[in-house]
Amino acid sequence: MSKVTVSLIKADVGGWPGHASVHPALIDKAEEVLSEAKSAGTLIDFKVMACGDDLELLMTHRLGTDEAEIHAIAWETFEKATAEAKSLKLYGAGQDLLCDAFSGNIRGMGPGVAEMQFTERDAEPLVAFMMDKTEPGAFNLPIFRMFADPFNTAGLVIDPSLHNGFIFEIWDILDHKKVFMSCPEEMYNILALIGAKSRYVIKRVYPKPGGKLPSEEPVAVVSTEKLYQTAGTYVGKDDPVALVRAQSGLPALGEVLEPFALGHLVSGWMRGSHNGPLMPCAFEDAHPTRFDGPPRVIAAGFQLCNGLLIGPVDLFADVAFDLTRMRVLEITDYMRAHGPFEPHRLPLEDMEYTTLPHVLKRLAERFEPAE
Ligand code: 13P
Ligand code: 13P
Ligand code: MG
Ligand code: MG
Repeated sequence: MSKVTVSLIKADVGGWPGHASVHPALIDKAEEVLSEAKSAGTLIDFKVMACGDDLELLMTHRLGTDEAEIHAIAWETFEKATAEAKSLKLYGAGQDLLCDAFSGNIRGMGPGVAEMQFTERDAEPLVAFMMDKTEPGAFNLPIFRMFADPFNTAGLVIDPSLHNGFIFEIWDILDHKKVFMSCPEEMYNILALIGAKSRYVIKRVYPKPGGKLPSEEPVAVVSTEKLYQTAGTYVGKDDPVALVRAQSGLPALGEVLEPFALGHLVSGWMRGSHNGPLMPCAFEDAHPTRFDGPPRVIAAGFQLCNGLLIGPVDLFADVAFDLTRMRVLEITDYMRAHGPFEPHRLPLEDMEYTTLPHVLKRLAERFEPAE
């Protein structure tokens, strides 16, 4: 059997209301378009999901990553959902479709893309993570902890098949460069980069050569698209998605989910301009409304079966994440009490692509030399 490709492609094509959620009509429209592609045999399977105001298309096929035919299907789906959003006058209809016409690859056109091609194992657990009101760097901490932190992933200590560690592909998303780093040997260097999460983001994780899994096939991938770089101005945050494979030489499912028990601080939230805690929540709770947040993450769990998506299981619906959610709510109150002050509001350099520079420009001529 040839390799399977899993493509998770997402876009905000209209919020209901404001930036809170996706209207069911958009989901129906997306399912209609993807059903046709499945009937035609292009897709093996698909699931349409939503996190906040982001429409999420999870697709399986045999065509590989960066494949024009698959990206064209996703683009067509977003265009048709946008038409639906416009007919309902939803907020920011077509927000993330930054180009007029599809040009062969959806990357750089607004939508977020996480894709990987691999040999499906005898049992292939897969988690699709979807975040709203934050940016790609929000995945740095949890992906690092899954594949590199022995205090998170017991398998790194007690399972010989994980002992060698993993290779991290890290992108400098400002300079458009990438570097491959080996963990645990280069752990401190990796952290030196990815702690600066607005610039250095984990793009993929690979197994090392000589292990259970082929070293050229990724085991995790994150969408790293930055909208403002395409649009040249703030048009919403780059709400990211990720795919992570689990078990049998990889972190167990529970080790993949464990980093989200922290409710770590991420940037995004109101107007994409604030730091706040990331709340892991059930699908039905992924409607960020308090100050357009706090930022959310949902996790859809599947077993792959010859490319069929057996699922989803709503993984953060577990009551064991209740305490995390309570803590996130307390931190939400505390952060909100700071109003417009940093570090609730993002530092100035991160505000460069928001509407704040317009305010500062209006004040510029009032400034006079200080003694
Ligand atoms: P408005 O200027 O339309 O209120 O938009 C603010 C906003 O939601 C930023 O994305
Ligand atoms: P989205 O990036 O989810 O569209 O949110 C934008 C925003 O400005 C929320 O306040
Ligand atoms: Mg939006
Ligand atoms: Mg969004």
